[in-house]
Amino acid sequence: MELTNKVAIITGASSGIGAAVARNLNEAGVNLVLTGRRESRLVELKKELNNGEVLPGDITNPALPDNLIQMALQRFGHCDIVFNNAGTVVMGTIEDIDIDEVCHMVRVNVEAAYRMAHVALKHFKSVNSGFLLNTSSIVGTKVRPTGGAYAGTKHAIEALTEGFRMELAKTNIAVACIEPGLVQTEIFRDWDEFPAAQFDIPDPLQPEDIARVVRFILEQPDHVRIPRVLAIPADQAL
Ligand SMILES: NC(=O)c1ccc[n+]([C@@H]2O[C@H](COP(=O)([O-])OP(=O)(O)OC[C@H]3O[C@@H](n4cnc5c(N)ncnc54)[C@H](OP(=O)(O)O)[C@@H]3O)[C@@H](O)[C@H]2O)c1
Repeated sequence: MELTNKVAIITGASSGIGAAVARNLNEAGVNLVLTGRRESRLVELKKELNNGEVLPGDITNPALPDNLIQMALQRFGHCDIVFNNAGTVVMGTIEDIDIDEVCHMVRVNVEAAYRMAHVALKHFKSVNSGFLLNTSSIVGTKVRPTGGAYAGTKHAIEALTEGFRMELAKTNIAVACIEPGLVQTEIFRDWDEFPAAQFDIPDPLQPEDIARVVRFILEQPDHVRIPRVLAIPADQAL
């Protein structure tokens, strides 16, 4: 896809991978609609962009996905890419894990991601083009002890992505997912420390590493599809 003047919605744009992808796509000439709960972060990021809009909100609000599409259409006239990336992580032992936090994670990582995907693809089908890119994880196909619930949310993203990809083969609509290994972001901000030592990964990826891979997936010519990419630190053995 030629990215210049394309329009992309990015969920989870207020930090980490989403913010890095916003910066990278901005360099490629993409116009952006950014969302996340932390409005001040989005407003700061918007100042760096050539053409960006922000629509802050909680992605578990069922109205937000359609509002994002409408904002893209009103501001830029079209919507070509949805990077369905907002997510959270809850891990812990049977004794320690908080089941209410787990269920909130399921609402963000699964329910909200499914709603965003569904709204995006309905729009893409109405115009017969578009690219939906979901953020999965290395644990979209594997499991860690104490991480089964988080891995389950990402297995759900893998299944959704593959089902949509099959449904949309032979159309002009692409669906893919990115599977990052450990990336140094704020997703672990409530943990005692970033889990590089805990996971024995001393040199994690940076969000910009994933942004380059996202750009690579999006920039393929129309006849090429990359349904999934696993991108991990060199020292991640899992
Ligand atoms: N970091 C890793 O090692 C890693 C590895 C594999 C996959 N991933 C996945 O990568 C994606 C991005 O995470 P990240 O690592 O970049 O972490 P991050 O820096 O914490 O970014 C997460 C983003 O999701 C947004 N978000 C979370 N809950 C939300 C909610 N209820 N409503 C709206 N937005 C919400 C956050 O925005 P607000 O807080 O402002 O709402 C933030 O912009 C996630 O899907 C994550 O599962 C991360």
